[in-house]
Amino acid sequence: MPADMIKLLSANGAIPSRDCARHREALRRSLPDGLILVSGGEEIVRNNDVHYAFRQHSNFLYLAGVPEPGYRLLLDPRSGQDILFIPRIDTDHRVWLGHVAGPAETKRRFGVAEVRFQDELPGILAKLRKRYRLCYADPQAWSATRKEFGTLVNKTEKLAEALETLRAVKTPGEIELLGRANEVSAQGHLAVMRAARPGMREYELQAEFEAVCLRRGLKHQGYQPIVAAGRNGAVLHYHHNHDVLRARELLLIDAGAECGGYAADITRTFPIGGRFSQRQKDIYSIVLDAQKQCIERARPGVLSGDLHLHATRVLAEGLRHLGFLKGSIDELVLSGAVRIFFPHGIGHMLGLDVHDSLGGKRRQIPAPPHLRLRFNARLEPGFVITVEPGIYFNEALIRHKQLRRRHKGRVDFSRAEKFLDFGGVRIEDDIVIRPFGRPLNLTRVPKETAAVEAACRKAQ
Ligand code: GLY
Ligand code: MN
Repeated sequence: MPADMIKLLSANGAIPSRDCARHREALRRSLPDGLILVSGGEEIVRNNDVHYAFRQHSNFLYLAGVPEPGYRLLLDPRSGQDILFIPRIDTDHRVWLGHVAGPAETKRRFGVAEVRFQDELPGILAKLRKRYRLCYADPQAWSATRKEFGTLVNKTEKLAEALETLRAVKTPGEIELLGRANEVSAQGHLAVMRAARPGMREYELQAEFEAVCLRRGLKHQGYQPIVAAGRNGAVLHYHHNHDVLRARELLLIDAGAECGGYAADITRTFPIGGRFSQRQKDIYSIVLDAQKQCIERARPGVLSGDLHLHATRVLAEGLRHLGFLKGSIDELVLSGAVRIFFPHGIGHMLGLDVHDSLGGKRRQIPAPPHLRLRFNARLEPGFVITVEPGIYFNEALIRHKQLRRRHKGRVDFSRAEKFLDFGGVRIEDDIVIRPFGRPLNLTRVPKETAAVEAACRKAQ
């Protein structure tokens, strides 16, 4: 990302208040005929007086940018007025938890003209509701304040749908944050490649990754890092991260930090010890080829399901060439045989949630059932998606009795069994769809085999 873009971000990488103002304006225009009330998150008790680490609701971050608990936002589309409600903090809270911004500071920090205390909300709602017949309150806001809405009819699903629809297309400000999350996460991935040694534990590499993110000001991960050595790499959301790294095995790491709530989602697979064996290279090269071809094809108007189908065909050809699959590519794809080795989708939307908005119902196109996809939409400029093909030797699938019967002539299960210790290869980048020409790849982490080996060797 150019240096001048990075300068635009505030020190802690928060979402700029001018962007939140634009998001609120777009939501008011989507739902002009009712009062809109959106809740921020509340702290969740872990035990006694200890709470889980707080993460703001993504919709609230999108509209208000406030990362702390206990806030609400009211939008009055007829007057164009937005009111941010803040918690009234007592001395005890200040003693234990320190400073919480009051109204004047909140106005300055989050760029909202009107700031009130939460206990003023009922009185304000009682006045404003007279002008409307409808309201759009999220479930938490509705259960806490339904009395104050009087006879207004709540269209909570319309609110969720409007936000799903808006959040799909990222603004330049949001792309900057995704770019910054990627830039820092890329440094984390490089540090992990440099640090990995036989005998280490997976969690030591998790520590390496998170330390880089923390040192560079990104305090939160978008999801729990997946650090999977050897056969653990075949478990798609492996999370134990406590096994020992063995020489010549692969290490799959799927990890991305959050910046202002916007997540990077990056996967790399590299050889522990820094040199791919021929058999690792053979599988890796198929996945890399599928990934690069799909990134090239990620253009406006293209169906995400067609990207998935393309990846499936490239992987099928590679696996057939290596003797794991037999028969025609059409048959291997239609029968679902390829799913034994590639049991997930080619990617997903990325934003405030790592598995972000699907774009709303209007955009969803039913995918052919054999593809088993939750997300199938025509790509649009401003979509940010992951492209993450993989090949896995997953014991649960390779030893599955019914699958073995169903795909007897198509899959060489005995050969696949010999690769159970191989684990898996996944390569994942974060891609911005642009109006014209090639997409923008936000992820700058080596992925060609020679470059990966060089990155692993740097510290040796
Ligand atoms: N980063 C994990 C996933 O995309 O499912
Ligand atoms: Mn992903």
